Amino acid sequence: MKICCIGAGYVGGPTMAMIAKQCPEISVHVVDLNQSRIDAWNSDELPVYEPGLYEVVREARGRNLTFSTNVDQAIAEADMIFIAVNTPTKHFGMGAGRAANLEFIEKCARQIAKVSEGHKIVVEKSTLPVRTAEAVKRILSSSSNGATFDVLSNPEFLAEGTAIEDLLDPDRVLIGGESQAAVKALADVYGQWVAREKILTTNLWSSELSKLTANAFLAQRVSSINAISALCEETEADIDEVSRAIGTDSRIGPKFLKASVGFGGSCFQKDILNLVYLCEHFGLREVADYWEQVVIMNDYQKRRFAERICRTMFNTVSDKKIAIWGFAFKKDTNDTRESAAIYVCRDLLRERARLVIYDPKVSKETIVSELLTALSDLSGTISETDRELVQSNVTVVNDAYDAANNAHAIAVLTEWDEFRELDYERIYDTMQKPAFVYDGRNILDRQKLTKIGFEIFAIGKSN
Ligand code: UDX
Ligand code: UDX
Ligand code: ADP
Repeated sequence: MKICCIGAGYVGGPTMAMIAKQCPEISVHVVDLNQSRIDAWNSDELPVYEPGLYEVVREARGRNLTFSTNVDQAIAEADMIFIAVNTPTKHFGMGAGRAANLEFIEKCARQIAKVSEGHKIVVEKSTLPVRTAEAVKRILSSSSNGATFDVLSNPEFLAEGTAIEDLLDPDRVLIGGESQAAVKALADVYGQWVAREKILTTNLWSSELSKLTANAFLAQRVSSINAISALCEETEADIDEVSRAIGTDSRIGPKFLKASVGFGGSCFQKDILNLVYLCEHFGLREVADYWEQVVIMNDYQKRRFAERICRTMFNTVSDKKIAIWGFAFKKDTNDTRESAAIYVCRDLLRERARLVIYDPKVSKETIVSELLTALSDLSGTISETDRELVQSNVTVVNDAYDAANNAHAIAVLTEWDEFRELDYERIYDTMQKPAFVYDGRNILDRQKLTKIGFEIFAIGKSN
């Protein structure tokens, strides 16, 4: 059996590496238009940072796992084709700012229709609006070579930072489809390492909708606890105590109740906005408003954090040095898409703060590019003043101590483990006084830091 995957990103790369590792008899070919990304997959410096990923890739690469830009050849040879391309929020035309941009999916479907012969199974891996499979089927049926297709929906539930664990031992694998034979063929692939009772099958539309719904529910939990964190800061209730107390109710459960500076990542906001757009499309105004509030609350949480920094630093951060610890949207990934750090830094820059940023895995180029984008208008244009602001007020360094040296404040924006184990006496000595710490992830030892002399502010804790 031969598998091809179009799209060598955060989803396509790790998922295919795991299939290749677990199924040595299946040949897996991952293709992408982006040559430098493919070169990176073929090197020792993978384009995606994930704990354990390199070992999995190394085991299968060259054996039954190939990365290349030969899209047509890979499609032509495959029995099963996964589509794992990006589906970003549209930023132009109808549905701008909400609807998913399906341009890349459609181009893939057209390419598959063009070069395929015989029978193939096409698997939607990317998160898509409900009924996208309908459009994919229509396009595929226009194939001029007489090829026939079965379309399946098989959304990926892995979380970045734990992708390998999640792929090895998923809570479930979801397969939606119409043809029982096609569903079985895909279930047999996962069945090589996932217990059969964890492989759920549904109709196509339930599968597409379940992925959007799962992400909306997860994001909603974060916004719910973050909403309560604002109330905690006013009332001397402690958000971590509240989380623990409600999480022990088996109907609520303990996971995903960690208050933070706001959720980020490529999925949550995009998928909720997509859901909102779908509901509006079907005239379900109240349902759309309900879900949109999750994103509104998240924007509020990010803004509130930056405002709290300004307010508690005597209402001005202009020309003050602020160390930013962490820029990725969560720990153990180099991904910065929609990271809360981008928006907190943007707001602080608008207040003319001087930022010294450190993240163990994110490059200077990525940080600067994200900040320039955040400061641009909708058409992507950035003013000369804002460009100069980034140039003069943003420094990226390679070490947390360096970032804090001579700073007026530290803001922890990603929960990297290394931030828990630093020498805080040493950091305190090198900082301006009063030495402020804003813990956007509630990972620091408040008592210890207060004893050293820091003024510490955390999420959902009153001062
Ligand atoms: C609730 C809380 O569960 C309980 O912990 C608290 O002490 C009091 O309030 P109660 O109102 O007695 O308890 O019943 P509950 O089982 O929570 O149901 C509340 C309502 O939600 C009912 O009308 C129930 O039919 C409805 N419900 C519950 C649903 O519609 N769907 C569900 O999945 C669960
Ligand atoms: C998410 C879903 O978890 C995954 O199933 C889906 O396939 C893709 O989207 P991901 O975005 O990679 O995965 O990471 P996740 O762990 O869900 O975290 C998302 C954001 O929420 C991060 O910014 C994280 O810091 C934040 N978060 C998460 C919290 O602030 N508090 C929590 O309790 C959990
Ligand atoms: P995700 O997080 O969903 O995996 P990424 O942006 O990391 O998203 O990866 C998607 C990949 O899909 C990118 O590397 C992009 O170059 C690739 N891609 C998009 N359209 C096509 C296409 N038509 N053919 C091949 N690759 C594509």
